[in-house]
Amino acid sequence: EKGGFDHFMLKEIYEQPRSIKDCMRGRIYPEEGKVQLGGIKEFAEKLKNIDRIIIVACGTSWHAGLVGEYLIEEYARIPVEVEYASEFRYRNPIITEKDVVIAISQSGETADTMAAIEMAKERGATIFGICNVAGASIPRLSHAGVYTHAGPEIGVASTKAFTAQVTVLTLMAFYMAQQKGTITTSKLIELLTELDNIPEKIQQTLESNNIIKEVADKIKDSTNCLFLGRGSGFPVALEGALKLKEISYIHAEGYPAAEMKHGPIALIDEEMPVVFIATQNSSYEKVISNIQEVKARKGKVIAIVTQGDTEVKKMADYCIEIPDANEAFLPLLATIPLQLLSYHIAVMRGCNVDQPRNLAKSVTVE
Ligand code: M6R
Repeated sequence: EKGGFDHFMLKEIYEQPRSIKDCMRGRIYPEEGKVQLGGIKEFAEKLKNIDRIIIVACGTSWHAGLVGEYLIEEYARIPVEVEYASEFRYRNPIITEKDVVIAISQSGETADTMAAIEMAKERGATIFGICNVAGASIPRLSHAGVYTHAGPEIGVASTKAFTAQVTVLTLMAFYMAQQKGTITTSKLIELLTELDNIPEKIQQTLESNNIIKEVADKIKDSTNCLFLGRGSGFPVALEGALKLKEISYIHAEGYPAAEMKHGPIALIDEEMPVVFIATQNSSYEKVISNIQEVKARKGKVIAIVTQGDTEVKKMADYCIEIPDANEAFLPLLATIPLQLLSYHIAVMRGCNVDQPRNLAKSVTVE
């Protein structure tokens, strides 16, 4: 049942080229520069006039929401707020009929996320669900939605469900942009052609497994770890930290790289591994100066870099390469080595990777 892999988590990490392909099937038409999302088609007109989008979710799904915020604002130019469902439901949030609330949930059964959308629905918002489990409670409570089609996820640590959620959000951002006319067909042709090729690039990223294992061996005995990124690399850093803490029990924090000097920098010494998302995109130069700040304090730098990078390699202790891609697709690629890194560290520490202590696959109580 684990298909020859030692753990479900590893199997699910390796399934990602396929699960992302499944998620895009029948939804993207690169040659025409077109996205089709049958699940929200009825709301195509409404999407032209919405004031804002509120994304509600918990845990890893909330991280996917942060990536969604970045993409929807960039391409569809609709303001987005991303909320922890557990906080949102107990505030008295301002919600109108012109709002769309997107609930993201692998299981579709998370109690806080369900309660958040029930409340938003009562106040007149349109609810979209992004779920993996067909027919679960959240899809039933939603007005419309898009399934992630990642297949059953057994490992408690979410991996392929996360990248499928990010894929759906990418498609939604492009779909909304197409509806609103904030993107040209030629730009969409370019982006969708590249997106279509992302499963292949994930496959290439998985080939760094041995290098990642070596890095894991070097940092497996740490008690703390920082993950830093900027732009859409920031939610990737958060997700990397969550994965590490939940399965290896190493204390880890994700931070926007520029926030480091406002506090976390005090933690850095030769014992502290700092994982940077340092790919070649708009924040590359800025991330490089953040790496210098860590090296000046003798921190151990592990960097996720673009294939062929030379600058970061001069400074970092260990580099893990990922293929070059448009910034929009960076989270899909940069997440993969972080999943593998946590996995190997947890295995080396003798942890129960698929069923970490104190955690349940779906949190159906608040
Ligand atoms: O099923 P959901 O996506 O609603 O679950 C949300 C979180 O409980 C979940 O992502 C949790 O954080 C995972 N253990 C992360 O790996």
